[in-house]
Amino acid sequence: MSEKDFISKPFSSTIENGSFQWSAPSNIALVKYWGKKENQIPANPSISFTLNNCKTITKLAFAKHIDKLSVTNNGFSFDLLFEGKPKEDFKPKIQKFFERIEIYCPFLKDYHFTIDTENTFPHSSGIASSASGMAALSMNIMSLEKALNPNMTEEYFYKKASFLARLGSGSACRSIKGSVVVWGNHAEINGSSDLFGVEFPSNIHPNFKNYQDTILLVDKGEKQVSSTVGHDLMHNHPFAEQRFAQAHHNLSAIKTVLVNGNLDSFIEIVESEALTLHAMMMTSLPYFILMKPNTLEIINKIWKFRNQTNIPICFTLDAGANVHVLYPENVREEVLQFIAAELVGYCQNGNYICDEIGTGAIKI
Ligand code: PMV
Repeated sequence: MSEKDFISKPFSSTIENGSFQWSAPSNIALVKYWGKKENQIPANPSISFTLNNCKTITKLAFAKHIDKLSVTNNGFSFDLLFEGKPKEDFKPKIQKFFERIEIYCPFLKDYHFTIDTENTFPHSSGIASSASGMAALSMNIMSLEKALNPNMTEEYFYKKASFLARLGSGSACRSIKGSVVVWGNHAEINGSSDLFGVEFPSNIHPNFKNYQDTILLVDKGEKQVSSTVGHDLMHNHPFAEQRFAQAHHNLSAIKTVLVNGNLDSFIEIVESEALTLHAMMMTSLPYFILMKPNTLEIINKIWKFRNQTNIPICFTLDAGANVHVLYPENVREEVLQFIAAELVGYCQNGNYICDEIGTGAIKI
């Protein structure tokens, strides 16, 4: 499929007003996306677990314009509510998103929207809400497009939702479906695309069923360097080409592991990917560090615990200081005890979130 396939055709139906509501989860990458080309095309393929509990819930109410001439803001008209209250500082991001997807969804200009959004996780937790937020909004927009074009297939509906979410925030395209999603062209993943996320095409080994992710909230502050700036610094990065090749290689390796259930190999790939992501940040120009001292304390404790107990627990990191602790469901009790006894002290205000693999966006 190409970008052109996502430009909507003239519709047979009309709809004056109504509303939709979708929830979409966050996701955690196992092989990381870091570096992009124009139009949110990833520099390398990535793969993630879709989460279950960390979600954004978004209601999109729409009413057709009677008088389009009074619409400003480049032709887009919307109000934005966060937890029921107007939130002006989120608006520029949505405005930019609408402008980016206008060519694919020209019908957006026919309506005034009220976007009412909330997260199940605390706003200031340091967990990025852009993936779940852009995914939830994209699902709503696709529900509207489907109302205008009732013949749309389910396959196209989900592909275009992921395509739109990607234009909002790259990794958001992996938050539409579950439980494991690949985004970016990869020679060994059938149907993989730079334009949207696809479900991992093979059967996943039972070891990964209900895989757990406990997110340790080390630092809830605003990041010093945004993901956008970080991705940009991969242009002319001295290790960029090796890194992109490594991601292809690691995706091949993890593909095998997800099928054969080898947890030692899983741990090695996932931890190496997390540290490589942060190594790229540390070797960018300008260089930067998003890990905090407590991030390293936690990593060392996890390694010690794993060595002592042989429990297959590992960590991964996204673009921040928080630590995602990944482990199979059958060791949940032991790991939660370990976290409560030894890791909580490194979390800001002792906060952490228990999550697990989920199935993707849900219509409410
Ligand atoms: O989707 P963005 O632009 O916020 O980038 C996300 C990048 C990482 O979280 C660090 C890695 C990933 O693949 O999710």
